[in-house]
Amino acid sequence: MSVNIAIDGPAGAGKSTIAKKIAKKLGYIYVDTGAMYRAMALYLLREHIAPSDTDGINEKCAEADISIGYENGEQIVYLNGENVNGLIRTEEVGNMASVSSPNPNVRKKMVELQHKLAASKDVVMDGRDIGTCVLPHAQVKVYLTADSRVRAERRYKELADKGIASDLDTIEKDIIERDHQDMTRELSPLRQAEDATLIDSSYMTIDEVVEAVIALVSD
Ligand code: DC
Repeated sequence: MSVNIAIDGPAGAGKSTIAKKIAKKLGYIYVDTGAMYRAMALYLLREHIAPSDTDGINEKCAEADISIGYENGEQIVYLNGENVNGLIRTEEVGNMASVSSPNPNVRKKMVELQHKLAASKDVVMDGRDIGTCVLPHAQVKVYLTADSRVRAERRYKELADKGIASDLDTIEKDIIERDHQDMTRELSPLRQAEDATLIDSSYMTIDEVVEAVIALVSD
C-alpha cells in the first residue's frame, strides 16, 4: 500500500517548501494541489469567465484537461497539454483559484486526479482539504500554519528577492481575506483534521519543520 502524507494549512504557511523537502528526503512524489486549482483558474480567466459567474465556471471547467507530470523531480502542471507552471503564480490567478475552487464541479475533477496520484505512489500532498476530504486515511496528517503577519513578511521578502516592490499591510490584508474565503466556504473548507498534528511555523526554521514532520512518519 502506498504511503500518504497530507499537509494542509493556509496560504503562505510554507506548505510547498516543506512538502518538497520531505518528498526529496523520503523519495516520495510531491503533489501540489493548489497548482491544479490555479491551472483551472488560468483556464477560466483565459475564457473571460467572471469570478461571480457560477454557470460559466460550471460549464467551462469541463473543457479544461488538467494533468500532472514530473521533470527532474519538479511537478509540472499541464492545462490542455500546455505546461503552465510559469503562468499560475500571479495574484490574479491566485484570487481566481480561491473564488473558483469552492465550485463542486471543479473540486470533483481535481479530487479524482488527486486520488489517482495518491493510490499508485508514496506521496506528500499539500492543499486545504487533503487530510479532511481527499486522503482521510493518510498515515500522517499535518496542519501547518503561521501568524498572518509572518506569512505576509515571507511573501514580501519573496517578492523583494524578485525585485518586485510591494506593501506589507496590503499583502497581510489579502492573506487574511484569502484565509477567510478558504475557511468559510461550504464545500471542503480549510480546517484542521481531528487526527492532524498542528505545527505553527511562525518561529521555526524550514529544517525544524521538516524534521518535525519526518519524526511523525517514523513514529
Ligand atoms: O495553495 P495555493 O495558494 O496555490 O492555492 C490556490 C487556491 O486553491 C487557494 O485559494 C485554495 C484553493 N485550494 C483548494 O481549494 N484546495 C486545495 N486542496 C488546494 C488549494
